[in-house]
Amino acid sequence: MSLADRRGAPGPPGGVPQGACGAIHSARENRVLPENGRSAEDILAELALLKRDDLEVRGGKVTAYVYDTGRPEVHDAAARAYFEMLEVNTLDPTAFPSIVAMEKQVVGAVAELLGGGPHTPGIFTSGGTESIMLAVKAARDARPVAGRPRIVVPVTAHPAFHKAAHYLGAEVAPVDVDPVTFRADPAAVAAAITPETVLVVASAPSYPQGVVDPVAEIAALAAERGVLCHVDACVGGWLLPWLAQAGAAVPPFDLSVPGVTSISCDLHKFGYAPKGASVVLFADPALRRAAYFASAAWPGYTVINTTVQSSKSAGPLAGAWATLNALGRDGYLGLARDTLAATRRLAEGVGEIPGLRVLGEPEASLVAFTGEDGVDVFVLSDEARKRGWFLQPQLSYAGIPANLHVTVTGVTLKGVEAMLEVIAESAAAARRRGPAKVPEGLADILASLDLDALDDATFAELAASVGVDLGGSGGPDMAVVNTVLDTLPAATREAILIRFLSLLYG
Ligand SMILES: Cc1ncc(COP(=O)(O)O)c(C=O)c1O
Repeated sequence: MSLADRRGAPGPPGGVPQGACGAIHSARENRVLPENGRSAEDILAELALLKRDDLEVRGGKVTAYVYDTGRPEVHDAAARAYFEMLEVNTLDPTAFPSIVAMEKQVVGAVAELLGGGPHTPGIFTSGGTESIMLAVKAARDARPVAGRPRIVVPVTAHPAFHKAAHYLGAEVAPVDVDPVTFRADPAAVAAAITPETVLVVASAPSYPQGVVDPVAEIAALAAERGVLCHVDACVGGWLLPWLAQAGAAVPPFDLSVPGVTSISCDLHKFGYAPKGASVVLFADPALRRAAYFASAAWPGYTVINTTVQSSKSAGPLAGAWATLNALGRDGYLGLARDTLAATRRLAEGVGEIPGLRVLGEPEASLVAFTGEDGVDVFVLSDEARKRGWFLQPQLSYAGIPANLHVTVTGVTLKGVEAMLEVIAESAAAARRRGPAKVPEGLADILASLDLDALDDATFAELAASVGVDLGGSGGPDMAVVNTVLDTLPAATREAILIRFLSLLYG
């Protein structure tokens, strides 16, 4: 039972009040699993209800999480291919040769675009995090070091590197970025390399401000020191090459850059494939072998895994394969032209709105802006949400101010003027409202709490007693929560966010 249920409050986004479900199938009563099987129509009707508070996945008003081409026929082709392969298990590639054939084509297409060749080794994975996990595992196992392996990670790199280090017993050496350009500083990266370093990281681009790290310099410095270098092109791998063809200035970042030893590229981002699709490429087959896993240490079937997951559906692979084929080169180039035009217009337009400032010079299609002169970006985000648009809040970190993040996709161009109008109106409203009012003493209480000593219910009651509904909606009134989090150190933020998850899932 969730916190919201216990307190009789509405559930979190996507939650369904019990009355609504009860109208569809009363047999369910208090049990989760129905006594008798239900028809597909009944189930899908409930699904529609469950989804009713979700953000829209199409149309461009949600500027994070989802990637829309604006071409429904492409997404439909992917969905049909996904469905066709839904029940095929990639656990055993010898049982289902279709998955090897499709994976070779998908990896081959990524290698072709990212400076590799027909024999560049790669792995199809479930997403950026898994690609990064495998790159870190490969580095750890290909070049073992005495002591705890370290990875050098600019602060703007995705937390997937922290997660990989956490899971794989490695240590993260964080490195500050240039405070004006937000790009990683090659000298700082080089200075952080020690004998235990197994990998250095550069992003193309980093997510928070959408800028490309100086990959060539970083990779060269790593190579001089005999250290592997991973380029996180999860966002840019399937975007930057097309943007370059559409006329954008894109610095070198791919496998053709000397010293780059692996690169990740998410097809479920700017490849526009359904979720569960990424590729990690390696500069040599020995590195890929170090990413693989095999076990014959039990009396069951022999386990051979290319990825972290073992049994998994071939649906995402088929969805990615179909999307690449449905769009083709001209499709991706067309989308890149639209994306480039929309990004330029957005960055220019935001820069003209009083109280807003674009951070850095976005080189891909991610635009982040901060608020000044009385415009609180967290309040702005809530105001935009009331107007039907989702702009993603980013907390301040490592000297970078709190800001809002917009991922521009192929569909954005059609609505970019409308988006700018909403941002301008929301900024004006935020100025009128002033900064979020944090209940007095809340930040201090949270900062001084021994979270390990509290159970979830007590934590929720504590937050509720000062007016914050942590178990409730993730919806339009998040400014207080974001403002409180923003005042806390990262470790406290993390502990609170884990609490939030625990409450959310009940
Ligand atoms: C630069 C970058 N790397 C890695 C990831 C992780 O990707 P995923 O969410 O697919 O695991 C993201 C996600 O936004 C990202 O922006």
